[in-house]
Amino acid sequence: MSVQQRPQPRPGVLDIEAYVPGKSTAPGAARVFKLSANETPLGPSARAAEAFRAAADHLHDYPEGSARKLREAIGRSFGLDPARIVCGAGSDDLLNLLTHAYLAPGDEAIYTRHGFRIYPIFTLAAGGKPVMAEEKNYTADADSILAKVTARTRIVFLANPNNPTGTYMPFDEVKRMHRALPAHVLLVLDAAYAEYVRRNDYESGIELVATSDNVVMTRTFSKIHGLAALRLGWMYGPSHVVDAVNRIRGPFNVNTPAMLAGVASIEDAAHLETSRAHNARWLPWLTEEIGKLGLDVTPSVANFILIHFPKTKGRTSRDADAFLTARGLILREVSSYDLPDALRLTVGTEEANRLVVAALAEFMGKKA
Ligand SMILES: Cc1ncc(COP(=O)(O)O)c(C=O)c1O
Repeated sequence: MSVQQRPQPRPGVLDIEAYVPGKSTAPGAARVFKLSANETPLGPSARAAEAFRAAADHLHDYPEGSARKLREAIGRSFGLDPARIVCGAGSDDLLNLLTHAYLAPGDEAIYTRHGFRIYPIFTLAAGGKPVMAEEKNYTADADSILAKVTARTRIVFLANPNNPTGTYMPFDEVKRMHRALPAHVLLVLDAAYAEYVRRNDYESGIELVATSDNVVMTRTFSKIHGLAALRLGWMYGPSHVVDAVNRIRGPFNVNTPAMLAGVASIEDAAHLETSRAHNARWLPWLTEEIGKLGLDVTPSVANFILIHFPKTKGRTSRDADAFLTARGLILREVSSYDLPDALRLTVGTEEANRLVVAALAEFMGKKA
């Protein structure tokens, strides 16, 4: 069979550069600290792990298809109507479904220069056209996004806070941008790191979803809840968007162990608070200590920081990556985010944080 005759993926699919997760091994290192995937160093709630284990007695039963218990638990926790929540196998699942539900071939979806890379991937997969908006100081910019809106725009993706920069758009700016968007454009506020933000001018999106017809907020259990392995996320949106997503999602897209662990996790407010407090202590410490070594660190409100390295031979981000990996400290290389000179570091345990600072001090030829 010739290449032309064999089955062809739809246009756009072969333009995708597949998402490459950060590495998770450091060959030769005695101990490994994985600080490359923005996972919580404190792990999940013990109650969530217990709920997960208890589900092992029911593996022969299909899950309840609407994740009702989880939607109700989220509803109680956030004061939301469970009917306007959809759960997914990670927030990735929901971002993918939104893209497929709202983009026809040739339609445009806007994302930002250093924005989360899944958005252009899902856009191309749906036959759409990803349109990149510039940022200012590694931060999404409302006017740059608005300047990219055309008659073909159907979705604007905003990770707030953004991964991998850790920066955020203040709520007043999100609202101003939303007011200027045509009513048929869906604004997707991806608030995967919302729980970590401690700023008065930040809002995850709940208020905007509640007061408009074209805004959706997505959330995840992979970050502060420490349940990344289970693949669990949720979205809150207007009824008509919820209806569209429910029509195309897999009927059992959330499995029972994940759902029950999610319920237990959302009810364990004490564990969430401990995780939040840990981050609030170590995020500024890492930012300051690494800054003192002469490296630029982008101010972050999430559970990771972006460290910028010089282009000087021996001091580049590649050199740093190799140096740290050899010591079992795995950071995230971010050249696919158009950040070839930076590494992303997830806030780790106290031990891991201190080891990273000491290793970077050695790398930079300074005393820690
Ligand atoms: C901004 C952002 N959105 C969404 C996700 C996807 O999270 P998950 O699919 O694990 O819920 C991530 C994970 O890295 C992220 O950084």
